Parts: sequence; structure tokens; C-alpha cells
Amino acid sequence: MSKLDINKIRSDFPIFADKSLIYLDSAATTHKPKQVINAISNFYSNYYANVHRGIYELGMKATEAYQSARQNIANFINASDWRSIVFTGGTTESINLVAYSWARKNLKTGDEILITEMEHHSNIVPWQLAAEETGVLLKYIPINTDGTLDLSNIDKLITSKTKLVSIIHQSNVFGTINPIKKIINHAKKVNAITFIDAAQSIPHSHVDVQDLDCDFLAFSGHKMLGPTSIGVLYGKTELLDSMMPFMSGGDMINSVTMTESTWNDIPYKFEAGTPKIAQAIGFGAAIDYINDIGIDKIHDYEQSLLKVALEKLKSIDELEIYGHQTGENGAVISFNLEGVHPHDLAQFLDQDGIAVRAGHHCAQPIMNKLEVSATIRASFYLYNTEEEIDKLCASLRKTQSFFN
Ligand SMILES: Cc1ncc(COP(=O)(O)O)c(C=O)c1O
Repeated sequence: MSKLDINKIRSDFPIFADKSLIYLDSAATTHKPKQVINAISNFYSNYYANVHRGIYELGMKATEAYQSARQNIANFINASDWRSIVFTGGTTESINLVAYSWARKNLKTGDEILITEMEHHSNIVPWQLAAEETGVLLKYIPINTDGTLDLSNIDKLITSKTKLVSIIHQSNVFGTINPIKKIINHAKKVNAITFIDAAQSIPHSHVDVQDLDCDFLAFSGHKMLGPTSIGVLYGKTELLDSMMPFMSGGDMINSVTMTESTWNDIPYKFEAGTPKIAQAIGFGAAIDYINDIGIDKIHDYEQSLLKVALEKLKSIDELEIYGHQTGENGAVISFNLEGVHPHDLAQFLDQDGIAVRAGHHCAQPIMNKLEVSATIRASFYLYNTEEEIDKLCASLRKTQSFFN
């Protein structure tokens, strides 16, 4: 097992003072270390003020902390310019921002948007609505039942009509890590704009936006130890500059008269109203926490947990694991136990203190492909242990014998 100081890490998370909790739902949202909670509490207790406008010490301190969080996040994904980092409410809002401010303004009948059957609903519905309004055709890269993308027809799917390609980096259902660089390169050949939904990948692995050379990328703070209601839209500066605002109001303007308004510079042009100050500061602290441990070490540790979990789960009769047959995968495992409805199973596991997700995971097209209505999903992060995997397996066996 790859090394992390797991006792120290767990002691950083107040929730794990409850020794009976086995939290295996980090793909939905992660717990918060005291460093993040304290950073937020310190802001509210000691230097709380609005940002950008206050010409007084508290206001300047708050502005500095807010801006430093943005720089921190830019460094984390190797963005060359902090102006590329737009704070949003999360991945969902980031995708909607582009669907409204870029897609609706730049696409017309005859154009095509390409996504995949593997997407979270957040990366489907905004494009469906945009496509409907603009008369654009929405196309899908199909998935194989082994949880991988079927890229055999990629040259036929990406054509001169393709104007936008938006792809999930790591599947929230299978854990599959998609070959996004390859897809981005295909998209570039036809000058299509590329969007990466990195909600599930950035918390667990090193993602470098300059290396990927994508146009847009989105992720959420709450899935990587940070607070809820904060996320990022990364965008190339020239694209963000060329786009119209998404929401409008205070802070996003340069000047307002009774007849017209002009827009602030990026990223502020896309951050209408009082910003998410406490959330951004908390998010910055979460990035510091991850950096202190090292994202590569976290990744390696999760990979060793994944290996153990797969081995142990596979030894349980009549347990079907979806995906994880080939290629690279993150530490997310969806499965079903024959004869037990996933919702019942989740309740039985809960009685043993084990929190897993049961449902369609906001990915109904995948469920349709697998011909199931729901699965159980166990997802791991830096605070999980091999012992928890043993307890999960024991609880699964116990449930199985109850139903048999
Ligand atoms: C792959 C993926 N994309 C998008 C989202 C939406 O993220 P949020 O709810 O933080 O906006 C999620 C959340 O589960 C996800 O897993």
C-alpha cells in the first residue's frame, strides 16, 4: 500500500472523530479538514469584509485573501494567467456559463456539439437546451458496456460541422479516465472548442491545462475538500474576453448609465454580485492542504486502495462490478449485488456505518446502457483505509446472507 500518514490525515477531519463512520461517497462530496474549516472561520471572525470596493484595511485584507485563492487555484492546474480562473457556484454553473455565453452566441443551425454517453447530467442538459434554442445537432460518442468510450468512429463523429466538444475526464460512475488529450487533438483538427468536465479528476490527479491545451475546463471545490457553492471555470483568456457576460449586476461592470453598461475585465465580468469570498478562501485552503500532502502521493495512495478494493469485491459471489476492465481508472467503483435492490443495500450498509451512494448518479444514459435502474457506488479519497474496505466487504456478505 502506497504511503500516506493516514492517522495524521484522519485526525485533520473533525467528522472522523466518529470512529464508526466509513465514508465512501467522496465522488458526491468530500469531507473537510480543520485547516479548511479554520480558514473560513478565521475569515468570518477576524477579517470579514466585502472585496474589491472597501478602501479600508479589512476590505483590503479580504480582497488579498480572495485573490490569493484564485492564484493558488491557477497554479494548481498550471494556468498561465489567473484571469483564466472564473469563480462559479460549481461545475454545473461553469458549464451553464459557457452554454449561455459562448454556445448560444456562437452556434447556429447546421453546427454540431459533441459530448459522450458517459456524461454527468450537468454536461448533457445545458447542451440539450442550448442545442434546442440554436438549432444545433447534439451528438454523442457512444460508450461500451465495459465503461470505456467507443472511439472507433471518432473521425466520423468529429467533422467540420463540430464546433464544440465537451467531455468528462473521469467518469463519476465507472471511474474510467478518458483519453481526453487524444480527443482534444481530434477536435483541434477541425477548430472545435474543447470543454473538459474535470469535476472527478482534478481532486485526485495532476491536471495541467497548458499541457491539455483545452479551451475550457470546470471543477467543484466541494469534491476536493473545499466548501460547497464554489467552483471554477477555467477558460483561455482570449475566449473569455470575447464572450458576453452570463449573469449581470454589480461587480461585473465597468460603467453603467441609464442607457447602457460596459463590462469589467475578466474574470470579474463573469462574477456578478458579491463574490463567493468565504468559499474561495476555503477552496484556497483546500488546495494548500492537498499541496502539502502532494497530489501525486494522493493519487498513488488511492490507486493502491482501488486495487485492494477491486480484488476484495471481486471475491464476493454474485457481485457485478461495472467497468474497471481495461485502461486507467480512478478510485470509484459502481456495482450491484444480485437479488438486492441498490437502495436496500445502501440502507443495510448504512446500518453498519458505511455511507455509499445508491442511484443513477446523475448519469441516466449510462444506466440505460447497462440496463439497470441504479447501482451502488463506493468512492475513495485520501482519508479512506484498507480496513474500511474489509468492513465494506464484510457488510456486503452479511447483507447477501440476509437476502439468501
Ligand atoms: C463528472 C461530474 N460533472 C459534474 C458534476 C456536477 O458538479 P456540481 O454538482 O458540483 O456542480 C458532478 C457531480 O457529481 C460530476 O461528478
